[in-house]
Amino acid sequence: MVLLLQMKKIAVCNQKGGVAKTTSAINIATYLALKGKKTLIVDLDPQANTTSGLGVDKAEIEHSIYNVLHEHISLEQAIRKTQIEGLFIVPSTINLTGAEVELVNVMGREYRLRKAVSEMERQFDYLIVDCPPSLGLLTINGLTMVDSLIIPIQCEYYALEGLGQLMNTIKLIQENLNSNLEIEGVLMTMADFRTNLTKEVISEVKRYFGDKVYETIIPRTVKLTEAPGFGKPIALYDGQSLGATKYEQVTCEILKIPIKRENGEIKKAELVISKEVKNNTGEGYGKETG
Ligand SMILES: Nc1ncnc2c1ncn2[C@@H]1O[C@H](COP(=O)(O)OP(=O)(O)OP(=O)(O)O)[C@@H](O)[C@H]1O
Ligand SMILES: [Mg+2]
Repeated sequence: MVLLLQMKKIAVCNQKGGVAKTTSAINIATYLALKGKKTLIVDLDPQANTTSGLGVDKAEIEHSIYNVLHEHISLEQAIRKTQIEGLFIVPSTINLTGAEVELVNVMGREYRLRKAVSEMERQFDYLIVDCPPSLGLLTINGLTMVDSLIIPIQCEYYALEGLGQLMNTIKLIQENLNSNLEIEGVLMTMADFRTNLTKEVISEVKRYFGDKVYETIIPRTVKLTEAPGFGKPIALYDGQSLGATKYEQVTCEILKIPIKRENGEIKKAELVISKEVKNNTGEGYGKETG
């Protein structure tokens, strides 16, 4: 396996429920992989929506993030391939709910994930963490381990509600556990441009976060709702859809490469897996999913 120099680690985090954390984590990780970046997605949510959304059969999971956090199983043992070449997953299971309680009296409990990930530092280009909708120990483990976080915000009433609490948590983590933590970007999701509400929320969020807000805004689309039910990222479910285009565009922003516009369409050729990824066979990592 080719050794890579530095892995960029990003958490997708907002303690508010249903703001498209999982949708964003899955689809950004997928496009990173399709653009030739070897990527690991870690499902840190007991709901395991990233796990099922990427088509991993829960019955087949041997080791999950729970075993890593609670039983000192190495991260490598829990890594599985996905349907996308170059994208690997550490799945979650419902017993992760217990980890939060079980870790309470453990020394260095906030650093569990960071320690596990440090062993894989040179194996991937990107690591994406899907956080649960809370600011508990699991999210703290995620934020202690990453370089930066993406905050998805739904274009909805009360969009900014709870953000003060999130900013406070970020500050506490910067001061006590991870001084390098920074905001990678703020992603507006489920936008409906027919409504004034969407426009108002976007300008309010831009007032609060300034140029941290991604230029790309994710619209509300039926295809994005349907894809996880088929265990597929949008690139595989309908790579020509608007939701797919937008998640590809925001991935370009993250990679700081030019955004393709072309009337909002991506040419099919763009989805052809690059040679670089093809060479990445991911030897040694678990069974293939789907
Ligand atoms: N752009 C979109 N258009 C339409 N539906 C969307 C979009 N983004 C997400 N959804 C749907 O909204 C619901 C919530 O999304 P998702 O699960 O990604 O949010 P979450 O923040 O991870 O939720 P939780 O806090 O429970 O983890 C899901 O049913 C998802 O399919
Ligand atoms: Mg989720």
